[in-house]
Amino acid sequence: MSTRPLRVLALVCSTRPGALGPIVGQWLIETLTPRAAELGVEFVPVAISDLSLPFLDEEAHPSSGEYRHEHTRRWSETVDAADGFIAITPEYNHSMPATLKNALDYLSREWAWKPIGFVSYGHTSAGTRAVQHAKQVVTTLRLVPLGATVAIRIGEAVQDGRLRPDPARQAAGVGLLDELVRVAHALRPMRERAQADACAGPLPGSYVRPLTADDAGQVTVLQRCCWVDEALANDSLAIPALHESPEQVRDWLATWHTTGLWLDGRLLGMVRTRRVGTDWHVGRLAVVPDLRGRGVGRWLLRTAEAAADPACDRIVLFTGARSQYNIDLYHREGYRTVSSANPDGTTSLAKPVV
Ligand SMILES: Cc1cc2nc3c(=O)[nH]c(=O)nc-3n(C[C@H](O)[C@H](O)[C@H](O)COP(=O)(O)O)c2cc1C
Repeated sequence: MSTRPLRVLALVCSTRPGALGPIVGQWLIETLTPRAAELGVEFVPVAISDLSLPFLDEEAHPSSGEYRHEHTRRWSETVDAADGFIAITPEYNHSMPATLKNALDYLSREWAWKPIGFVSYGHTSAGTRAVQHAKQVVTTLRLVPLGATVAIRIGEAVQDGRLRPDPARQAAGVGLLDELVRVAHALRPMRERAQADACAGPLPGSYVRPLTADDAGQVTVLQRCCWVDEALANDSLAIPALHESPEQVRDWLATWHTTGLWLDGRLLGMVRTRRVGTDWHVGRLAVVPDLRGRGVGRWLLRTAEAAADPACDRIVLFTGARSQYNIDLYHREGYRTVSSANPDGTTSLAKPVV
């Protein structure tokens, strides 16, 4: 699972002149910014009044992702880039404001598998009826509403146009962010699987996606566990994959195209490829020890081969000269040994690009 920092939008929903919403939003930002820094969360204020969203004016259903208007495309990018939301919402006639419902209705896939918390305000009910209605709506979009909440009674909380300091409210705000971050992390595999660049993997529920520098931690762990067998087979610890630091892994992830196989947030396997002249280099083929012998390595190898640059005429790979298990797999997949005893203790194999 990626270690990219979470991005949380604080969404001020009321848009009328003189609204209390921006004041509540300001209190939330001031209260949560230190905690967000501790949690490594990027906390981004967004006001619906700044989005220039008219009442939904797109022809196609949002699930199509076909957006004709610039305001929709901008809103789509903003929501897509976020990992969770805090809606700062008033109660209007026992429900959420139309502005929030409209902003929700504009999009579809962009909301999915992200947590949403609510900071509500109103009179006797402190905006809680608005939140109850909003929860019904957001679940349709696969947003996941939190149990933690902040509910503000305007009559008690507002003084001279500001929110009075209130330690209980402040603690509730921090609790809301803490819960949001935990749920956002837990839902990350669901979000990753739903992303456009993720495709189904060979095991039920698994998926593959390109690995980035943010995956360096998991790749380092996978390498350390997978290349122990290589070390034993070759009676040598001089194997780069065993020694690379997360920083070194981060560096090569930037220069290779690497495909990761995931299941429920666990990196099960990977393979990296790149073009060198007219050769298509395939390397770092790895599968976690408990899933070996189930065709996962072969599946990853074939995926790497299928991605070969058409300008290449052969596929080349290396393994330990005494890694018989790997060599047998590569021979079965049509590779021929090119050099069986390279100076670094590896053997190289190749097969034509078909
Ligand atoms: C159209 C409208 C409907 C309202 N309905 C309710 C309501 O059902 N319950 C409630 O507690 N307050 C209600 N209020 C009072 C609001 O909670 C209060 O005016 C609040 O400041 C509105 O948020 P805003 O200033 O950010 O727009 C309503 C206010 C407006 C403008």
